[in-house]
Amino acid sequence: MEILCHSAPLHEIKAEASLIFVINKEFSHEWIADSELFGSVGFEGKEGQTLFIPQSKTLYYALDSLTPDSIRESSAKALRALKKYPFSSFKVGIYTQESLECLEAMTAGFLLGDYNFETYKSQKSESKLTQILISLQTHLGRQIDSKSFETILARQSAIARAVNLARELVNTPPEDATPQKIAQAAQKVAQEHQLECRIEDEKFLEKEQMGAFLAVSRASIHRPRLIHLTHQSPKPKLKVALVGKGLTYDSGGLSLKPADFMVTMKADKGGGCAVIAILQAAKELGLELELHGIVGATENMIGGNAYKPDDVLRAKNGKTIEIRNTDAEGRLVLADCLVYAQELKPDYIIDLATLTGACVVGLGEYTSGVLGHSQELKHRFIECATQSGELTADLPFNRHLKKLIESKVADVCNVSSTRYGGSITAGLFLSEFIEESYKEKWLHLDIAGPAYVEKEWDVNPHGASGAGVRMVLQFLEQLTKES
Ligand code: BES
Ligand code: ZN
Ligand code: ZN
Repeated sequence: MEILCHSAPLHEIKAEASLIFVINKEFSHEWIADSELFGSVGFEGKEGQTLFIPQSKTLYYALDSLTPDSIRESSAKALRALKKYPFSSFKVGIYTQESLECLEAMTAGFLLGDYNFETYKSQKSESKLTQILISLQTHLGRQIDSKSFETILARQSAIARAVNLARELVNTPPEDATPQKIAQAAQKVAQEHQLECRIEDEKFLEKEQMGAFLAVSRASIHRPRLIHLTHQSPKPKLKVALVGKGLTYDSGGLSLKPADFMVTMKADKGGGCAVIAILQAAKELGLELELHGIVGATENMIGGNAYKPDDVLRAKNGKTIEIRNTDAEGRLVLADCLVYAQELKPDYIIDLATLTGACVVGLGEYTSGVLGHSQELKHRFIECATQSGELTADLPFNRHLKKLIESKVADVCNVSSTRYGGSITAGLFLSEFIEESYKEKWLHLDIAGPAYVEKEWDVNPHGASGAGVRMVLQFLEQLTKES
């Protein structure tokens, strides 16, 4: 989709169709030419309501308020509605006094709303729409300069390309997105964006004594990969390591998932795919960072050589882990990858993972959990997430929950002894693999809810949403500004 700006007022711009937002039922606005028709066709201006008038080739889209969140979501949904008509272009104006904020939200909505997953459809939905023209004269008569427009568009385009890359990788079915294929995808991103890329196989995992990662990988015919991408800015202000859970399929292993719970587990690589996408965008945005992206890519399968409940594993840092449920596999892969990440001596470590069903139960499908030992760091992250348009909630650790992962036979147990507080006990398990000096510099993001949703929501189509990409990028930008 090409987005262009125009300094002329909206009515002077030539396009095949128009998009007009109807805000808070104000039908008398000068941009609304068809308001006398609204009553007869039952258009009340209720949030989310749309009306297409063929004579004026105008789509009216109603929203209640002009917050960035609602502009972003409405732009995505209006774009999807317009793609159903045979137009190749439409024009739109800018709303609100915070015009740049509106422009940012609108471009984000258009670019993110444009994605759908059709790779495996013989019949692709055919939309002619290729061009959006934005008038830089706001509805209050203010003029936005085209330079600001270009800056905003370039940033939003890089972010949207990354989100859409993560979505595409996550949506790809497990036989076409094996650990090896995900590694190839990472290599391709690295080549196209001049990132460093190391792909390590089992021999490396053995050498590094990553006994937890290896055990999870054992029963799959698709062999594991550790992916390590690096973005090196010429003048890095700080060093950050991202770690992603890249389970290309999670059957549960011998603690096999029930049939209904296994469907969609191709999305268990959501954290890993987000990490690859974030590295791409970090380069495109020229973030002044040394940024490492580490992905533990593997499958959790069953077989004669599968790891079992009752096994005791030894992780890279020497800690032993009693296995009581092989479906709590993500934390095992992350444990070894987190130890690896700390050896790089970064200033901050952030892991992203579709880690627990409990997180989805607690927060709902649209919100990611933010966990860590530093209240201040979590708070800073959550602020950035909100700005980026992603939903998050703080899930607090406490000493009572920590007791629930104690083991009688090993240093720690891979599951809690109760079924309550599962996302927090999973986070506390990861914390066992974070050195004392890193405790306050580590964040764990549980994206199990929003990573993959089987219905349209916000700017997302059915399926993968690219959860994590926008919020982490916003946070990384903020970190470089602070230091
Ligand atoms: N990948 C799942 C978590 C998950 C569930 C992600 C639903 C997305 C949607 C994870 O590996 C898992 O199976 N966790 C178990 C942990 C339990 C055995 C302690 C869970 O959440 O049930
Ligand atoms: Zn699992
Ligand atoms: Zn999993």
